[in-house]
Amino acid sequence: MAPSTAAEMVDLYYDPYSFEIDENPYPYFKRLRDEAPVYYNEKYDFYALSRYADVLEASKDWHTYSSARGTVLELLDVPPENLPQMIIFMDPPQHSRLRKLVSRGFSPRQIDRIETQVRDIARRLLAPFAPGDTFDLVQDYAALFASMVIGQLAGVPSEDLDILRQWGEDNLTIEEGGDSFKTAEVMKGKGDADALARRTNIGDYFKSLAQKRRSEPQDDMISAIIDSRIEGDDGQTRPLTERELLDFIMLLSGAGTETVSRLLGWAGTYLPAYPEQFDAVKADRALLPGAVEELLRIEPPTPVQARVTTADVTLHGQAVPAGSRVLLLTGAAGRDEREYADPDRLDIRRHAKHVSLGQGVHFCLGANLARLEARVAIDELLNKFGGWAPHPDRGERIHTSTVRGYRRLPVTV
Ligand code: HEM
Repeated sequence: MAPSTAAEMVDLYYDPYSFEIDENPYPYFKRLRDEAPVYYNEKYDFYALSRYADVLEASKDWHTYSSARGTVLELLDVPPENLPQMIIFMDPPQHSRLRKLVSRGFSPRQIDRIETQVRDIARRLLAPFAPGDTFDLVQDYAALFASMVIGQLAGVPSEDLDILRQWGEDNLTIEEGGDSFKTAEVMKGKGDADALARRTNIGDYFKSLAQKRRSEPQDDMISAIIDSRIEGDDGQTRPLTERELLDFIMLLSGAGTETVSRLLGWAGTYLPAYPEQFDAVKADRALLPGAVEELLRIEPPTPVQARVTTADVTLHGQAVPAGSRVLLLTGAAGRDEREYADPDRLDIRRHAKHVSLGQGVHFCLGANLARLEARVAIDELLNKFGGWAPHPDRGERIHTSTVRGYRRLPVTV
């Protein structure tokens, strides 16, 4: 049902599938915040919340804004039984039980322990390059780095890591206009033969890896999860089902690689665009954690999270009926002038809160890891080359319904 104010918004259009809007969504986001904080899109039948306070509140209110139908717009009409059994697509209490089990591996202590290994991966990837070289910051460094780190943590053999990366990209890429959504089609059993086969192959790959770890456990996350018990609906503990295990591994590989690659791409353009701040970071690496938070605020790698309402809601005088599809625009929230002074300006000393890693029960499970990876990846680039100059005009953006950023970004070091 369209809201009564729809007619007033004829010239204000937002849709997450438009490549043109995706190129620079911020002018659209500003208008949404100012003119239509509860925006309704008739074409795709969704509402969008864009103000920081609204996105924050809705993210925390899982009772009303449910994740159980999925958190990606085009997946919301996939039959629930076909959706992957991932914590990101669950509400409590099911979510809480699974999250408790998997979160042990992501505690600050566990993540601090792997800093040396993470640093070593960064150094190995930078080894082939010398000062004066031009290489692709995203493809030659960030994407490999992110998949190697998550692969090592999860226990995926290094020779198979390309499979993880390919899976992430293939499954998320959309085509202009949003008429073709490969993943959603596949989950409805309607995808083209290639896409269906690819998904089956990846499923088979992880199935056989899990079987190997069952018979010969290693010191890795897959083995630890296989060995853990979860509380079932009957109050008894049980191991994860094979599907729960496989879907979790798939979630880690997707969520852990695509996001970090995008964040490092944004670091590649933003830091050099603010020379005083870039120089300050070069001279004092203690500024890096603050820089990473500010990059997350100003260019969230995942700018849109979908929900479905479980009850009628009225917000800013606008009725949103139960069962509505709602997009929480974290990308718009991070630039809300109601929350941040001069929001379009990078300020690594801002030390502001943000919603770019989510909030509430779904707060990013990999947040500690993502922060460590970003800090170390930038630190090692600076240690080796002292800086870089990006060439965004020769770069290429990735178009997916979940992440936003560079697919390729040449830099000269
Ligand atoms: C810069 C990097 C990252 C960004 C911007 C990011 C962003 C987010 C956001 C916004 C959410 C909440 C989604 C929602 O509310 O629906 C989330 C959840 C999640 N993230 Fe991340 N993420 C990043 C890195 C990672 C990494 C490295 C991993 C894994 C190793 C990871 C795993 C997850 C998982 C498993 C969830 C679901 C948590 C739950 O539902 O309880 N993320 N992430």
